[in-house]
Amino acid sequence: MHAWLCENPVGVDALNWKELPTPQPGAGEVLIEIQAASLNFPDLLIVQNKYQMKPALPFVPGSEYAGVVRALGDGVKGLQVGQTVACLSGTGGFGTHTLAPAKLCMPLPAGFPAVDAAAFIMTYATSHHALIDRGQLKAGETVLVLGAAGGVGTAAIQIAKAVGAKVIASASTDEKCALCKAQGADATINYSSENLRDALKALTDGKGPDVIYDPVGGDLAEPAFRSIAWRGRYLVIGFAGGPIPQLPLNLPLLKGASIVGVFWGDFARREPQANAAMMGELAQWYAQGKVKPVIDRTMPMSELKAAYARMGSRAVMGKLVMVN
Ligand SMILES: NC(=O)c1ccc[n+]([C@@H]2O[C@H](COP(=O)([O-])OP(=O)(O)OC[C@H]3O[C@@H](n4cnc5c(N)ncnc54)[C@H](OP(=O)(O)O)[C@@H]3O)[C@@H](O)[C@H]2O)c1
Repeated sequence: MHAWLCENPVGVDALNWKELPTPQPGAGEVLIEIQAASLNFPDLLIVQNKYQMKPALPFVPGSEYAGVVRALGDGVKGLQVGQTVACLSGTGGFGTHTLAPAKLCMPLPAGFPAVDAAAFIMTYATSHHALIDRGQLKAGETVLVLGAAGGVGTAAIQIAKAVGAKVIASASTDEKCALCKAQGADATINYSSENLRDALKALTDGKGPDVIYDPVGGDLAEPAFRSIAWRGRYLVIGFAGGPIPQLPLNLPLLKGASIVGVFWGDFARREPQANAAMMGELAQWYAQGKVKPVIDRTMPMSELKAAYARMGSRAVMGKLVMVN
């Protein structure tokens, strides 16, 4: 097997494509031949030692992937050699093969291609858990999605539409806003060229959005929060924009509004049954055509460094997927 090895987490340049011995699965593990692996923002952070999870060195980055089961370890039930699965195990995806815990593998039904499956779990699970569980988004409510053309953002647009909400998508370029419209957003705001607060006032008759989905943070957070509706819910998803914002606590008081933290990974670990039920619903929505990952492009696995550069320069729309 071959894989991109991180021996020194000082950034993407230090990754090396290496030949490694093909491992044998231990108890509870499976060997997967990887067909596709997507980039998530944490993949960018983990190779710089900036992510909350710090794997032992050396490690192979690539949090999320899909492929074919080639061998089963002792005690593995419910999976078969030759079956196609998707898996989010945090590392291992950027190579030709990896070992994965069997319990993290989601068997793929016919009609769920590996490229879509590799781009599915992290973004859709995060956005479903955020909007429906943590945010209690209801049909007829208005949600503002920041960074809406990114991975979790595009999933958030589709999920909010699937539950009958009105979506205001905002992003940094007109091209990104056009993509959000094509994904079903009812209105868009280009926050590089428009005043976010004025545009929100105009689009909501002065009321403001009921739910705000924020994977960007930075300078957008405070003006967005100042625009939230009475009893609004502000979903803290991530800080792709850099600085972690600080909000004056009089703002939630004045709006009777909530700041709601979202940590899908820990939700999945702490509440596995609720997570499994949610994943079941998402797989059903995929089969019904209600949700479908937006694939920015596929790239050969050998071009991982170029893919990282594309994500880091804010150019990706939807998901980037590496293929073998
Ligand atoms: N809480 C959770 O459970 C959870 C789960 C998954 C991901 N996340 C977090 O969600 C965030 C988004 O993840 P993602 O995979 O959707 O990433 P992504 O596809 O790269 O999208 C991030 C978006 O953030 C915006 N952005 C603003 N400044 C940026 C910068 N300096 N560099 C890159 N992007 C910038 C970009 O939109 P514009 O250009 O339109 O501004 C971009 O589309 C990350 O912070 C990630 O860690 C959280």
